[in-house]
Amino acid sequence: MKQTTMLSASLGLALAGLVNAAEFIDVVGKGTVAVLNGTDIDKLTLADRIGCLNANGALTLDDCAVFTIYEPEEYDGLLRLMTTEAGNCTFQDETQPTNVDSIYGKGDHAWSCDGEHPQADIYDGVYTLNGLKMPFVCNGDINCFYDVKKAPKNKTDAIPVWQFRWGSQQRGITPGHLQVAWLWQPVKST
Ligand SMILES: *[C@@H]1O[C@H](CO)[C@@H](O)[C@H](O)[C@H]1NC(C)=O
Ligand SMILES: *[C@@H]1O[C@H](CO)[C@@H](O)[C@H](O)[C@H]1NC(C)=O
Ligand SMILES: *[C@@H]1O[C@H](CO)[C@@H](O)[C@H](O)[C@H]1NC(C)=O
Repeated sequence: MKQTTMLSASLGLALAGLVNAAEFIDVVGKGTVAVLNGTDIDKLTLADRIGCLNANGALTLDDCAVFTIYEPEEYDGLLRLMTTEAGNCTFQDETQPTNVDSIYGKGDHAWSCDGEHPQADIYDGVYTLNGLKMPFVCNGDINCFYDVKKAPKNKTDAIPVWQFRWGSQQRGITPGHLQVAWLWQPVKST
């Protein structure tokens, strides 16, 4: 089946960059997502927190939604996706703003959870890695960072969050943007 082949290829790609498969950690359950600003994953602390993700998947000052990381039945148990009360979360909703300032991320749509747009699939899979100081939520090919234009300043700000992309023409974060990580903060399920 096509989806299974694509998933295996994607997981294989993710694992190829690691010393061994044991470093790839499965997370499931409920939690909030704190957003920490910084470029060195080993040095991030809670003091770097600039906000958290809301139920629509945007960065806010303190509208922290509860996310569920779940195991969708249709993917042979290998994939973990995120959902909120607003819907399944995806980077593939074409109604969301694109990261126009980024050389490599121009075509990327912001993370969103609304249930009305494309079904989440392998490109939306999340995991964390053993060896990280804290349980950061990673996506794609060993990417534990995300891209935001700025930090929220007040309770009405809801800032789009994109995948972090770089390459030879843009070696770090999009100029003027912040490089951030998503810290998983588990909550007890009711
Ligand atoms: C984000 O982190 C960078 C350093 O990595 C720092 O220069 C910048 O001031 C920080 N911005 C905010 C809003 O915390
Ligand atoms: C969310 O995803 C699950 C599993 O992938 C699917 O069964 C469900 O229909 C989706 N819900 C919405 C609102 O799209
Ligand atoms: C919140 O801050 C943004 C800038 O980040 C500003 O455009 C907006 O007017 C502010 N809203 C309120 C209610 O202060």
